Amino acid sequence: MRSCLLLGARGFLGRQIEMMLRDQGIDVIGTTRVLADGDPDSWIAYEFPRDSIGNCIRDLHFDFIIMAARLARANIEAKHSPDTETCPLDDMFEELSRTTRSQVTYVSSDAVFSGTRGGYIETDEADSSEPYGSMQATAERSLSAHLSNHLIVRTSFLFDVKDVPTDSRLSRMRQALTSCTPFYADTNVYKSPVRVVDAAHEVVKRTLARQTGIVHLPGERQSVYDFFETSLEPLGLTQFREQLIARENAQPSDTSLRSVFARSTA
Ligand SMILES: NC(=O)c1ccc[n+]([C@@H]2O[C@H](COP(=O)([O-])OP(=O)(O)OC[C@H]3O[C@@H](n4cnc5c(N)ncnc54)[C@H](OP(=O)(O)O)[C@@H]3O)[C@@H](O)[C@H]2O)c1
Repeated sequence: MRSCLLLGARGFLGRQIEMMLRDQGIDVIGTTRVLADGDPDSWIAYEFPRDSIGNCIRDLHFDFIIMAARLARANIEAKHSPDTETCPLDDMFEELSRTTRSQVTYVSSDAVFSGTRGGYIETDEADSSEPYGSMQATAERSLSAHLSNHLIVRTSFLFDVKDVPTDSRLSRMRQALTSCTPFYADTNVYKSPVRVVDAAHEVVKRTLARQTGIVHLPGERQSVYDFFETSLEPLGLTQFREQLIARENAQPSDTSLRSVFARSTA
């Protein structure tokens, strides 16, 4: 039976990936920072950058690795001393290269782009200067330097109007609107949102096909305001429309993604 190490198996995207892998008959070794009662026996505890990934997976066998955990964000929150921020990512990918020959799929973000023009394709240079985007770009570079057998999947907003409690972004809007608190959304910040189930499908499909390189998951280009506004009806929140307030961001941006490979996944 083929098996997959899945970092972030409990996450918004990770849980969808986990279900799809199981549906394909693939054994999943999920990671979570803290194991809980009811977690499958095959799951292991792993927290970046505290734990050594090499130690955590030393005696395990798997055919693929999918990284759907918030590693770039965790690395920023770890507040390393200046000029040492990249070390934990380098250490992790270097350890992986020593421990396994498996293909690695890393889920990255549209945030690697500055947003000065939008419609980014896979060959466009990552050029973000904000902390999260440049940390994602650092993770991508580090992965590429250490593991030749890798796939980077970049996505914009992920969403799930059918299971809002799992979707922290839509949950925040619903919570604000239903408690009659104004919820502000930018009309001049553009994204290309993708349903989380479609993103998971693409990640699994391309990983199992052993695709390498970079792939974008393109969705329909939308302003952040339009994204929330079009979610009102499926969420049954149209009576709260007045609480959704359109605003102009002082820093307009367009990080929408296109792909040279595929049809839109919107
Ligand atoms: N959601 C979006 O709109 C979006 C957009 C663009 C890109 N992405 C990318 O897609 C990936 C998955 O996103 P998501 O929304 O599914 O993320 P998420 O639900 O916020 O987090 C995924 C998992 O990351 C794990 N995690 C957090 N900190 C960790 C750490 N320090 N060490 C190890 N694991 C850690 C958590 O596992 P436990 O809580 O079980 O420990 C969590 O369940 C991320 O790489 C993200 O950058 C997401």
